[in-house]
Amino acid sequence: MSTPVTTLSPAELQKAAREHLWLHFTRMSSYTGEEIPIIVRGDGCYLEDINGKRYLDALAGLFAVNIGYGFGDEIGEAAAAQLRELPFYTNWSYAHPRAIELAAEVASVAPGDLNRVFFVSGGSEAVESAWKLARQYYSARGDNVRAQVAERMAAGERIEQRIPSQRRWKAVARRIAYHGTTMGALSINGIASLRIPFEPLVPDVIHVHNTNRYHRPPEETEAEFTAFLLEDLEEAILQAGPETVAMVIFEPVQNAGGSYTPPEGYWKGVREVCDRYEILLCADEVITGFGRVGAWFGSERYDIRPDIITSAKGLSSAHAAIGAVIARDSVMEPFLEGHEMYAHGITFGGHPVMAAIALKNIEIMRRERIIEHVAEKQDYFHQALSQLLDLPIVGDLRGTGFFYALELVKDKETRETFSDEECETLLRGFLSPRLFEAGLICRADDRGDPVIQISPPLVADTAEIDEIVSILGEVLTEASQRMNR
Ligand SMILES: Cc1ncc(COP(=O)(O)O)c(C=O)c1O
Repeated sequence: MSTPVTTLSPAELQKAAREHLWLHFTRMSSYTGEEIPIIVRGDGCYLEDINGKRYLDALAGLFAVNIGYGFGDEIGEAAAAQLRELPFYTNWSYAHPRAIELAAEVASVAPGDLNRVFFVSGGSEAVESAWKLARQYYSARGDNVRAQVAERMAAGERIEQRIPSQRRWKAVARRIAYHGTTMGALSINGIASLRIPFEPLVPDVIHVHNTNRYHRPPEETEAEFTAFLLEDLEEAILQAGPETVAMVIFEPVQNAGGSYTPPEGYWKGVREVCDRYEILLCADEVITGFGRVGAWFGSERYDIRPDIITSAKGLSSAHAAIGAVIARDSVMEPFLEGHEMYAHGITFGGHPVMAAIALKNIEIMRRERIIEHVAEKQDYFHQALSQLLDLPIVGDLRGTGFFYALELVKDKETRETFSDEECETLLRGFLSPRLFEAGLICRADDRGDPVIQISPPLVADTAEIDEIVSILGEVLTEASQRMNR
């Protein structure tokens, strides 16, 4: 067991947390008279709090600690070596070995010709940067055409070609989807309650249907559902004016709302719609990237063929604050000519210590065959969780890889969902604290319909999967009884 780093006693930590630490997305009032949970160490798939209580982390931090908590020493050594060699240098006009090596490594695991890597500090910045890249891509292309025409005219050629305005700025995203909190990424979110406090937002984002099939008419076939979604997407683009739409941004499997997997033919159709109107397709793989769905990227798993991938969390298994925008060669092309440059940068983008950590993470993922493990165990995981469908409160099980959600319903026959008030009592009042008390960290979420999200470290094995299912079974049985009282 490692020696604690802190010099403060548990009581002093509680006091300092109350007085100084502002928790993210947290109703601070909920800790009035309650202890703030303080996690002090991790090991494999388990965490330990300040009182010595252990928890199975079925959320992998925040869908992020893909290799689990057992490789800290090895990663720490890589970070320390980098700190000794070069603690910091920037990617603004300069390169350094770790950023170069990591870019090459990321390109090697990314599908197809997604070969160009722009580093950022996290997922929101990745989404923000992808949208800016898409916006500037069209104007850079237009500028290049204009420059070529001007050059030919200067050489005496008579050209009557009209150069169309190439500016595009709109983004298309899906309802209920979460894409981050910085203003651009926030504007892309399809969760109204997150956007409203910060309006007016960045123009213009159009939100289309997500792939939640559970509340569609039961007689609708999968092919009909796909056709409905693609028509909805195309119609939204036509309404917005295709010549103004820069980017379609969807997750391979949408997290918020509860692991919405794509129906058959969906991604092929989305790619076709984007091609028809020359719109860049961005796969937001902040969660699905680096193994969560049993492949390096969801784009590979679903043959998405995106123009841009956004990634963060699993890139370093959350051992470092690093994200990456990965672009196809063709997306970088307009920026390789003349005076063009992508007018964007972040001091910490490609930080050498963060890059060294991410490199070590990828090395560990390869060595430990993490992706293969997820692919091998995903059916077991799905089957184990499907036992919970016997409970009256569990309406649906969705997901793939190590990325699942259980939708909770009031009435299984009619698929009636809980009211806002019932969600408050059920999720916040009972399930979240009860699961935590039972030693399981997972998320009870009602950004869409109420769901329990399950997304453990990718090193979880049958023992951890069985434990997750057993604790969920007990607590959800209790929840069913309470709701039926
Ligand atoms: C799909 C997706 N995109 C973007 C983000 C934002 O990432 P970050 O919290 O690192 O800014 C998240 C975070 O959960 C996410 O799930």
